[in-house]
Amino acid sequence: EKGNHRHYMQKEIYEQPIVVAQTLQTYIRPFEQQVALPDMTFSFADVPRITIVACGTSFYAGMVAKYWLEQFARVPVELDIASEFRYRQPVLEPGGLALFISQSGETADTLAALRHAREQGQKVAVVVNVPTSSMAREADLLLPTHAGPEIGVASTKAFTCQLAVLAALAARVACEKGKLSEEEEKDIVLHLTEAPAAMNAALAHDPDIEAMAPLIAKARDVLYLGRGPDYPMAMEGALKLKEISYIHAEGYAAGEMKHGPIALIDDNVPVIVLAPSGPLFEKTVSNMQEVQARGGKVVLISDAEGLAQASEGTIATIEMPKVHPLIAPLVYAIPIQLLAYHVAVAKGTDVDQPRNLAKSVTVE
Ligand code: M6R
Repeated sequence: EKGNHRHYMQKEIYEQPIVVAQTLQTYIRPFEQQVALPDMTFSFADVPRITIVACGTSFYAGMVAKYWLEQFARVPVELDIASEFRYRQPVLEPGGLALFISQSGETADTLAALRHAREQGQKVAVVVNVPTSSMAREADLLLPTHAGPEIGVASTKAFTCQLAVLAALAARVACEKGKLSEEEEKDIVLHLTEAPAAMNAALAHDPDIEAMAPLIAKARDVLYLGRGPDYPMAMEGALKLKEISYIHAEGYAAGEMKHGPIALIDDNVPVIVLAPSGPLFEKTVSNMQEVQARGGKVVLISDAEGLAQASEGTIATIEMPKVHPLIAPLVYAIPIQLLAYHVAVAKGTDVDQPRNLAKSVTVE
């Protein structure tokens, strides 16, 4: 079932261009170049606020979605991890939309949060990979991802499919709120349809990533930095690494380093910087240089343009295709997944079944 692949995780990483394309097919009308969502019993135009709740990797997908929803639809978005949401007495506006993201659709904390939100009069939308799951059954709006079964405990293809659905959702909400012209919607659709090919181009750099893995495998701690939507991607990269290689890793907003974490930097700490060229590039690079000045060993992940500008002093670089900022998270997911994968293989850990973890977390 793993085909030519050594692990399910590797197979699932490689499936991403196809399953993202499959997922997008159900959310995009190619001829009209419009976003299409399943039939709905309510309109996003009436939604005053969106509350996103999820756990783990699905939470990071939600965090990327917050950037998109706020940018495109100008709708206020709150974001919570499910295990905190119910207990902090969240203030939920009547008529608000609560959005739950879950690969399994069974995560106990997320399901309990969903029920709580419903009791508080929220409309409930879910992005799930298992259409028969509890969350799917309890939703007002079901937005399935079409990643196919995900076996590896580390979520990979489910994550990028979540991002694809969430990007389409953000565009749809923006349209209904009158914040997106027809042209702008077409533009978003166009960029989304470019994602699978760009993800393939990212996968082509697998050998470079494999080659640098032994370097990272020796580290005790690894930091990941990014700005904007690459900030949640940095946290996702760190989660992938700790989950399957058992190396301590943290993701930070690049600009936050100087408020404390930079004290951790010495020449034993690899720092993975996610910096696609674009409006946030210069700022991220100057944070990266602060790290280099303290002896931090930087691995820069950027496109040719970014690498040409900022590779100096890095210990390694990973080249990504140049993409529109909207789809950068879908593309930059690939090198962080591959890096975690190869480091885990180099360390000889159980990649598909890491210790202490379960695929579906059904206890609170
Ligand atoms: O099934 P869910 O998406 O609700 O699961 C949430 C988390 O348990 C999950 O994403 C976990 O963090 C992954 N193992 C990360 O790779």
